[in-house]
Amino acid sequence: MTAVVVGASSGLGRALAVELARNGHDLLLVASDARDLAVMAADLHLRYAVRTESLAIDLAASANPGARILEALDGLPSPQALLLPVGMSRSDDDGSLAAAGIGQLLAINLHAPIAIAHALLPALLDARGVIVGFGSIAGARGRSRNIVYAAAKRGLQTYFESLRHGHLPSALRVQFHRLGFLRSNLTFGMKLPLPAAEPEAVARTVVASLGQGSFTRYQPRWWGLVALLVQCLPWFVFRRMRD
Ligand SMILES: NC(=O)c1ccc[n+]([C@@H]2O[C@H](COP(=O)([O-])OP(=O)(O)OC[C@H]3O[C@@H](n4cnc5c(N)ncnc54)[C@H](OP(=O)(O)O)[C@@H]3O)[C@@H](O)[C@H]2O)c1
Repeated sequence: MTAVVVGASSGLGRALAVELARNGHDLLLVASDARDLAVMAADLHLRYAVRTESLAIDLAASANPGARILEALDGLPSPQALLLPVGMSRSDDDGSLAAAGIGQLLAINLHAPIAIAHALLPALLDARGVIVGFGSIAGARGRSRNIVYAAAKRGLQTYFESLRHGHLPSALRVQFHRLGFLRSNLTFGMKLPLPAAEPEAVARTVVASLGQGSFTRYQPRWWGLVALLVQCLPWFVFRRMRD
């Protein structure tokens, strides 16, 4: 199987790429830094004897990232899996961001995943393949931090719901993992109120689920209870929560 991993250079994306290669899948690795990707592609090829290609692209500045990915897939068999663990958040996403910052967050967290999904959809449907998106606990309820990021993640969740509505699992498996905290660049140095999962553990679960049908689920699963609690809190209590 050929899998495309967008956001493959660190955190969950890197762990997914390793797990997919370990399972014998050819890979197209996508992120912004060409040197990181080249080293990773060479390492995975050597360790697991899979074919690896890479594409360095700034998803905040590309109007049509799907076309670039289709070009980069040229040397590989047609893709059967698209995984989109790309993401970016900013500490100043508190309602004070200027238009350029808002555009950057929307481009990376919402526009790029949707545009790439649309471009690869015909090939994924041909292959009766799987598309995998990643949301965030931040999208469970709107707060005064990570404002644009959370809006983008909730938008992405709705997009995946629409995909799932439009395609039977026998034609396209549509899988959406809503993630709690992960130990990665995104949370580096942050004081977190709940434990962070290791990207490698989450990646093993995600890859093991690729053959299952379509679903939306929390990852790790206990975050579903946290989300339920947060959503059930009366507004006057929720409004006081700052961490
Ligand atoms: N970490 C958490 O606690 C947490 C919680 C909930 C949900 N999530 C979600 O889980 C997913 C994985 O998160 P993570 O913590 O593993 O993130 P991460 O370690 O920061 O990795 C993000 C990936 O996205 C790529 N990326 C970011 N901006 C890009 C750009 N402009 N152009 C191209 N690639 C870009 C990065 O590549 P470059 O470095 O090369 O730009 C990197 O490969 C994301 O969707 C995130 O929103 C994370």
